[in-house]
Amino acid sequence: MDCNLKEPMLGFSPELFEARRKTVFSKLDNSVLLLSSGSVKKKSHDIEFPFRPESDFFYLTGLCESECVALLRSNGSDGDLVLFVPVRDLNKERWTGERMGLEEIKKRYGATEVHGKHQLGQHLPSLLSQAGKIYFRTGTDHQLEELLLSSLNHDQVQESRGNRKPAGILDPGSLLDDMRLFKDAEELDRIRRAAVITSESFREMLAYCGPGVGEWELEAALEFGFRKRGASGPAYPTIVGSGGNGCVLHYSSNCQRMESGDLVLVDGGAELDLYAADITRTFPVSGSFSEIQKSVYEVVKEAHGCGIKRLAPGVAIENIHEVTVMKLVEGLLDLGILKGSTDEILEKETYKIFFPHKTSHWLGLDIHDVGTYMVQDRSRVLEPNMVLTVEPGLYFPSLNKGLEEFFNIGIRIEDDLLITDSGSELLTPQLPVNAEEIESLVQVSK
Ligand code: GLY
Ligand code: MN
Ligand code: MN
Repeated sequence: MDCNLKEPMLGFSPELFEARRKTVFSKLDNSVLLLSSGSVKKKSHDIEFPFRPESDFFYLTGLCESECVALLRSNGSDGDLVLFVPVRDLNKERWTGERMGLEEIKKRYGATEVHGKHQLGQHLPSLLSQAGKIYFRTGTDHQLEELLLSSLNHDQVQESRGNRKPAGILDPGSLLDDMRLFKDAEELDRIRRAAVITSESFREMLAYCGPGVGEWELEAALEFGFRKRGASGPAYPTIVGSGGNGCVLHYSSNCQRMESGDLVLVDGGAELDLYAADITRTFPVSGSFSEIQKSVYEVVKEAHGCGIKRLAPGVAIENIHEVTVMKLVEGLLDLGILKGSTDEILEKETYKIFFPHKTSHWLGLDIHDVGTYMVQDRSRVLEPNMVLTVEPGLYFPSLNKGLEEFFNIGIRIEDDLLITDSGSELLTPQLPVNAEEIESLVQVSK
């Protein structure tokens, strides 16, 4: 994600970031929050990976540039945003494009102060000298971490503290995760659009599905659809797993040719203005499910529908998983794959061989978005404006003796949903889940 000078906040309103900072200021007391935008990662020698700002940094500043640091401190009812940004280097800009100068950043981003990044070491001791706690994510920006620790041992800091250390270095998640869990209108607009882009691109991708076609071709077709529709690209590595590869949960080498009679599981999501969608569909490569594939597909589809139906404010997220698991277990019993009583299966969790992951995760700036799933030792209860996935699956890698007829069946169905005041809204309705509709999509598009 390069900085777009015409739309430096990716089209989001500056007031949005200001309001979020106000909320943070109200929680900070005499503590300080220190965030890094992240650095450009090297791919090789002098070639760089595309840059994407750290989500928390963007969430509070709207700034998309690399190598920046934001410090937030409260002054009672309000607070300061102090930014450290690389100074312009016209020679470098000839290679990597124009950046904003300090004054422009100050004006556009509502900062109290903006300094050159090279001055961070000089300013940090005084900015930290009175901080009660320091909110900083350790283990991510090592340079900044070193600077933070050396600043805390700086004479100026020691003196003004009377040799007291800060009360702690805490993860910023404790301030920000619960804010990020509830999406505002501008965020929902991006997630909705990312979901539509993803759904439409899935439909289009199916025109390329067929025996002999490379998994990588479906990946390329899907991601072409994302870019064509204005997304910055995939929010995570696209998974195109045919045959046994569909049983590998985060398979992304996408290097096999698809074979007639196999299923292909495609899990992909567009990223739009840093917000993600996340969809999975499983298709028969040659357009028709075999009887046995269809019987497993129907079980996953039932579980998916049941999980979605249960979504509503006041329901615990763990309950969504429970009803989904229950449907999967009933299906596995009907198919003769599991034996014994439902209670025993649930207690011993023997279903986990076939369904090893959870049903849902939060969705937003991060594909597995922030927000705890437990609150005070209890499952978190759903509330309006949360966005999450429902994604049951069943996987039969060629490992489980006695289940040869199911080998290499890997099926997941995943959709994105918004919790509303009265229930939920499906953000991905353009893509069907019924087996017949899935088959006809593959066939119609051939
Ligand atoms: N694509 C990763 C997931 O569905 O969680
Ligand atoms: Mn997901
Ligand atoms: Mn997914």
